Amino acid sequence: MTRRPYIVGNWKMHGTRAMLSEARTIDRAAQRHMKVEVALAPPYTLIHPIHREAEQIAVGAQDCHEADGGAHTGDISAAMVADAGASFVILGHSERRQNHRETDALVRAKAEAALAAGLKIIMCCGESADTRESGKAVAFVKAQLKASLPPADAMPADVAERLTVAYEPIWAIGTGTAATTDDIAEMHGEIRALLIQLFGEEQGSEVRILYGGSVKPDNAAEIFAVPEVGGALVGGASLTADSLMGIALAASEPSAN
Ligand code: PGA
Repeated sequence: MTRRPYIVGNWKMHGTRAMLSEARTIDRAAQRHMKVEVALAPPYTLIHPIHREAEQIAVGAQDCHEADGGAHTGDISAAMVADAGASFVILGHSERRQNHRETDALVRAKAEAALAAGLKIIMCCGESADTRESGKAVAFVKAQLKASLPPADAMPADVAERLTVAYEPIWAIGTGTAATTDDIAEMHGEIRALLIQLFGEEQGSEVRILYGGSVKPDNAAEIFAVPEVGGALVGGASLTADSLMGIALAASEPSAN
C-alpha cells in the first residue's frame, strides 16, 4: 500500500444519540493510530453530531439522492449531507441495490451528484453467491463497477483523492464468513487493472480498494496482507470502538503494509 490504510465503519441502520459516546471513543483512539485513516458512516441523523465533536475521523453518509433538491419526500441530497458535515458518501452498497432496486445507472448518477457537491465517494461492488458459483464473479464485478462509475471525463482530475472502491461480495456481508485471501487477491488485482484502464496509470494505481464482508479484528491482518487491499469497509464489527480499532490496529502493523 502506498497510501495510508483506510478503515471505514458503516453503521447501516444502527445508532441513536446513545451511540455518540462510541463515536467519541473511536475518534480518540484514531488519534493514537495516525498510520491509519479511520472514518465513520453513521445514519444521517448522527452525521452532524459526530462531525461536530470529531477531531480525527471523517464522517460520511451511506447514500444520497441523485438530484440537487426537489419533490423527493424522504430523500436527502449530496449537498445536504455535505452541509451536515459529511466529507464522503458510500454509494452502490449491495443492500441499497437489493432493497431499493438501485441500478448501475442510478448509482452513477448519484456518484456524479456527490462529486459535484464536493464529496468523496466510496463506490461499492460485489457479486452474489450464485454469480460466484457460476464462475462469473470477476466479469460481473468489473462490468458493475464500470457501469456505476462516472466516465473519466466526468471525474475530477484528482480521481485517487476523490474515489475509493469497496469490493464486497454479497455472500460475505454480515455472514461471519469473509472471502478467501485468494479470491480477494484475484478480484482486487482485476479491479486495479480496470481502474488503470479507466483513469490512467497515475490516478488508477493510487485509488484505494477496500475489502468488505465480515472483516473482524481476528481476520483483518491476513486480509490487509493481500496485495491491493487498501483497507476495509466494516459493518457489524464497526459498532464498537473495541472491534473497529482492533481492525485499525491490524492495519497499522508492519505486516499489513
Ligand atoms: P459486515 O458488513 O462487515 O457486517 O459484513 C460490511 C458492509 O456491508 O459494508
